[in-house]
Amino acid sequence: MARKQKKKTPNGKWEQARTILEMRDVHAAYHGDISILNGLSIAVNENCITGIIGPNGAGKSTALKTMYGFLHPSKGTIALDGRDISNLPPYDMMANGIAFVPQNRSLFNDLSVEDNLRLGCWQFRSDRRKVTRELEKVYGQFPILKEKRSDLAGSLSGGQQRFVELGRALVVEPKIIMLDEPTAMIAPKISREIYDFIATLPGQGITVVLVDQNVRQCVNVSDYIYILDLGRNRGEGTAATFAHDEHLKEMVADWLDYQID
Ligand SMILES: Nc1ncnc2c1ncn2[C@@H]1O[C@H](COP(=O)(O)OP(=O)(O)OP(=O)(O)O)[C@@H](O)[C@H]1O
Ligand SMILES: [Mg+2]
Repeated sequence: MARKQKKKTPNGKWEQARTILEMRDVHAAYHGDISILNGLSIAVNENCITGIIGPNGAGKSTALKTMYGFLHPSKGTIALDGRDISNLPPYDMMANGIAFVPQNRSLFNDLSVEDNLRLGCWQFRSDRRKVTRELEKVYGQFPILKEKRSDLAGSLSGGQQRFVELGRALVVEPKIIMLDEPTAMIAPKISREIYDFIATLPGQGITVVLVDQNVRQCVNVSDYIYILDLGRNRGEGTAATFAHDEHLKEMVADWLDYQID
């Protein structure tokens, strides 16, 4: 059952929000026996930003891929609005209003910006008016993409390509969006624009799950943060908790120095 988050922190927004998506004690493996998640629990609250941080290889991307149905738990459950979705494939996740922007570049470089965005509209491709409306919405949010709508996606800068990927995820009007390292290898100015944009999503009624190597930015933008290591929970809390909890700060400091900007 979806439940209210227990009062753990002084963060009112997080506490008052309802849990919409939840992994409970999830174990998952690649190829059946390469065990990566070892009893991971993550609660995602509605219209909040849930950050997931951890060192390289901690299992952050695997956690997102498992939430999205690319891998299925061997133990534990994943629930959406209280309904068990542990065994749904990714296309059903999309049909349930969940969008996913993977860590690695996922555009078709030899297609135009607009054709890449149109691919995101595949589910409702016969409704031309809705396709036009959704494209215009993306162009409104990212005006540079309107200018470059006919350019090949592969010719855009890394940051502009990230905007296309975000736009392509948003055309389905998701209720939840999962973002894996949205600013990795992106210039600082565009990174800031991307974080500013992510911060607006809860206000648009979109719940965010954000995996990030950039600990400082992730903590700043997130309502609640989970720390992962070796596929397990190592700590959690709000930005306020992070600022005051010496144990959390010490733990993160071990792998923070080369990741923070
Ligand atoms: N397709 C795969 N098959 C087998 N092992 C994999 C596969 N993908 C990832 N792994 C392994 O799973 C572990 C966790 O990887 P994952 O990509 O989830 O970590 P991460 O926390 O996202 O790391 P990073 O910060 O580098 O993105 C690593 O040891 C990785 O080598
Ligand atoms: Mg990763």
